[in-house]
Amino acid sequence: MDTEIKPCSSLSILLLFFLFSSLNIQHCGAADNLSFGEALSGNQTIVSKEGNFELGFFTPGNSRNYYIGIWYKTIPGQTVIWVANRETPISDTSSAELKISEDGKLVLLNSSKIPVWSSNSTASTSNSTVAVLLDTGNLVIRNGVTSNRHRLIWQSFDHPTDTVMPGGCLGLNKITGERQSITSWENSDNPAPGPFTGSTDPDGSNQFVLLWNGSEIWRCELWNGQFYPPIPGTQSSSPIKFTFVNNKQRNCAMYTVLDSSFITRSVIHSSGLLRQWFWVNSTQEWRTYYTVPYFQCDDSQCGAFGICDQQSPNICRCSYGFEPASAKEWELNVWRSGCVRKTSLRCGNKSSADGEGDKFFEMTHMRLPANPWYLTVRSAEDCEQACLNNCSCNAYAYGGGCSIWTGDLQNLEQVYDGGTLYIRLSASDFPGSSSSHKLVISLTLSVIGGILGILCALVGLILAFQRRKQIWMAKQVESSLIQFTYGDLQHVTKNFSERLGSGGFGSVFKGTLIDSTEVAVKKLEGLRQGEKQFRTEVRTLAGIQHVNVVRLRGFCSRGSKKLLVYEYMSGGSLDSHLFRNNSTVLGWKMRYQIILGIARGLAYLHEKCRECIIHCDVKPDNVLLDRDFCAKVADFGMAKLIGRDFSTVLTTMRGTIGYLAPEWISGLPITSKVDVYSFGMMLFELISGKRNATQSEDGSKIFFPCLAATKVIEGDIFSLLDHRLNGVADIEEVTRVCRLACWCIQESEGHRPTMGLVVQILEGVLEVSMPPLPRALQVLAQDQSQRCDHLSSIKCKDPPDQSLDFYQ
Ligand SMILES: *[C@@H]1O[C@H](CO)[C@@H](O)[C@H](O)[C@H]1NC(C)=O
Ligand SMILES: *[C@@H]1O[C@H](CO)[C@@H](O)[C@H](O)[C@H]1NC(C)=O
Ligand SMILES: *[C@@H]1O[C@H](CO)[C@@H](O)[C@H](O)[C@H]1NC(C)=O
Ligand SMILES: *[C@@H]1O[C@H](CO)[C@@H](O)[C@H](O)[C@H]1NC(C)=O
Ligand SMILES: *[C@@H]1O[C@H](CO)[C@@H](O)[C@H](O)[C@H]1NC(C)=O
Ligand SMILES: *[C@@H]1O[C@H](CO)[C@@H](O)[C@H](O)[C@H]1NC(C)=O
Ligand SMILES: *[C@@H]1O[C@H](CO)[C@@H](O)[C@H](O)[C@H]1NC(C)=O
Ligand SMILES: *[C@@H]1O[C@H](CO)[C@@H](O)[C@H](O)[C@H]1NC(C)=O
Ligand SMILES: *[C@@H]1O[C@H](CO)[C@@H](O)[C@H](O)[C@H]1NC(C)=O
Repeated sequence: MDTEIKPCSSLSILLLFFLFSSLNIQHCGAADNLSFGEALSGNQTIVSKEGNFELGFFTPGNSRNYYIGIWYKTIPGQTVIWVANRETPISDTSSAELKISEDGKLVLLNSSKIPVWSSNSTASTSNSTVAVLLDTGNLVIRNGVTSNRHRLIWQSFDHPTDTVMPGGCLGLNKITGERQSITSWENSDNPAPGPFTGSTDPDGSNQFVLLWNGSEIWRCELWNGQFYPPIPGTQSSSPIKFTFVNNKQRNCAMYTVLDSSFITRSVIHSSGLLRQWFWVNSTQEWRTYYTVPYFQCDDSQCGAFGICDQQSPNICRCSYGFEPASAKEWELNVWRSGCVRKTSLRCGNKSSADGEGDKFFEMTHMRLPANPWYLTVRSAEDCEQACLNNCSCNAYAYGGGCSIWTGDLQNLEQVYDGGTLYIRLSASDFPGSSSSHKLVISLTLSVIGGILGILCALVGLILAFQRRKQIWMAKQVESSLIQFTYGDLQHVTKNFSERLGSGGFGSVFKGTLIDSTEVAVKKLEGLRQGEKQFRTEVRTLAGIQHVNVVRLRGFCSRGSKKLLVYEYMSGGSLDSHLFRNNSTVLGWKMRYQIILGIARGLAYLHEKCRECIIHCDVKPDNVLLDRDFCAKVADFGMAKLIGRDFSTVLTTMRGTIGYLAPEWISGLPITSKVDVYSFGMMLFELISGKRNATQSEDGSKIFFPCLAATKVIEGDIFSLLDHRLNGVADIEEVTRVCRLACWCIQESEGHRPTMGLVVQILEGVLEVSMPPLPRALQVLAQDQSQRCDHLSSIKCKDPPDQSLDFYQ
């Protein structure tokens, strides 16, 4: 990134003499400015002093139109950061001119010398006006070349297109009354303003909003000069610093980089994603630092054989050996048509030209597609052969068992962990084969780790991206929440015939919408809220979208009948997997993923942008699993919906007491730390695979957290582990979870970590120290227990009798 471009290297002098000999810029090719009387046309450019940026005409993508733009001079591939005439392209540059006009404006004249774009700036005199391209990428117009006091008249940073550069500020210019915002390109071929804009909220203080066609789609508070909730990169180790400027001139949000060799830009893409990119010199590529709104790859948005990838500039890309089925649609960021093979499969036809049949291309870090066929073969070779022998087999994976996929592969996703998928290709498509391209696409994410330590912390967020998609988004804005009539829901649930379960707030029924999406319909009971308030709360809940939170799809409100419609989770609830002695036992890896998922879901609820949501009822029954066993927090926001009666409902509910924090039971005001407490209680259950209070083999009642806390302190962790796991677990992870659980159930809220911290600990970013024995447990201690009295000071028994509900 220090790549120094010497303005007057012999090569450029040669080139410039050759190319620009007829031009009216006479400097040594590297003029960084355009003054009155000079003009830029054709191939001419101006280059900032240190050679970082270049300004001139360019044609984006496959367009035939010309635009005046600024791009990185040091970075291959012409990454454009600013466009002047984004709405008024010109078709020919040979006699078009960019110059300072008589009235001191910077203007672009087309070949007929008609102005098509103007800076609209006002200068007192034209002949002392000069436009200078700075090394920050800012094009400034100044007055007074000769005087020492260069007066700034205009700057491109105040008129950004889709990119904010370090030092650029989005928000209000109090002097001119202008508002700086960024607007996406129409598509990669056309810089005309697209539907997405981003800026600080004109009404709210310190809030950053993304809009689609004028409607808000995402909002983030700028808090203490940082984005809140923390976006990766806003931590202290981050090379990027976010600040909120509020002074006499401006009220705006900006970021700066601490190390000037860190090349970064923030761009609102035509798909609606706002991303911070940074340049990786070693691999010569742009990578994303963060993306908002967080999104999740799903819904086959990348089509058959398309791979959804957070790190890819366009979200979707084709698998190796494939190309877009419709290049036109892909250019417009519509990927659903998917990808097709470049070369069709030979399928065992060895009589072809090079005598080769099909081969498999290894794709690492993949989320494996759903619905494989499972084969019983003994080795990876046999699995490969089985796929090869079946002409409709397109891919296989071998990890203990053999899975093969026939037909189109949907929902391929590049993930941080994930498995290895072998995709079948014609041998001629292979790198190194005679007819193939030598291009090797790196499918590993290993670079991430290598580049910047901070990225470790990102992975969690990268994985936790929320659903998002351009077309989807349009739909989303218009109908983020479906309002059903009671009749609709009667129909959808076949008159409430299939009950999924029931809790303190009502019963849940399974339903199927007309488009055959499955939903869970919850009939709320004991609600005494007004119509208007109910709707307000429901709308708030609908805005809560995270991969680890069950999504609210719709609602129905008719008189006293209040129903909520959620996405359906085919995996059922966590307690059904954890505590029932049926079928399969959740392995430790899976449990750890579930724990991490719940933690992320709760952290999102607590620390999300607009308001903190305390779940108030965290327990395994309220964690649902999707078909891939991804954990989602359910039943959040009930406290708001139910209102004041909430705690009464809760305390009269079976099985809830054991998860309630002491301050709640004693009637003190609650904070999000009550969820942390409940989460800690739940961790013990995930470790042991048993309810915290159960009968032990010898008939005595034990309260597991108490036992666990003492064992953790004694260092005897494995004895706590669910015996059904037969000791198959990562000791380090179990230790971490045990200690964390102990910290979470500390009596004093101040001693409990926040959910954000919990996530970091689980991700291994932070170490967790040895916890003190929770005092709450000591308080519970009496001397009857046979299990816990070997530590003289700590004696436990089952919790006091308000908790009859513990025993089922
Ligand atoms: C960037 O990469 C180029 C070529 O890969 C190399 O010559 C240059 O030294 C690198 N610069 C830095 C700062 O690493
Ligand atoms: C414009 O560029 C030329 C060549 O680099 C330089 O000599 C001159 O001082 C510049 N003028 C201004 C006002 O920066
Ligand atoms: C611009 O440069 C290209 C090659 O780089 C050359 O073929 C073309 O003639 C140049 N056009 C002008 C107007 O100088
Ligand atoms: C220049 O712009 C004017 C006004 O937009 C237009 O009528 C004219 O055709 C353009 N000339 C060329 C050569 O594009
Ligand atoms: C410049 O100002 C004129 C009139 O005030 C306006 O019509 C035009 O849209 C402005 N152009 C730009 C690029 O802001
Ligand atoms: C240009 O500048 C010179 C001195 O700097 C001044 O005498 C002259 O009047 C100016 N011309 C115009 C058209 O402003
Ligand atoms: C965008 O908003 C305008 C008015 O606000 C409306 O007329 C137009 O139909 C909207 N576009 C889309 C694609 O929804
Ligand atoms: C096998 O490949 C050869 C050469 O590519 C071709 O001529 C022949 O038709 C193919 N046979 C089948 C059954 O596809
Ligand atoms: C290929 O495998 C699928 C799934 O196992 C099976 O249904 C199909 O019959 C197989 N086809 C052939 C030709 O063996």
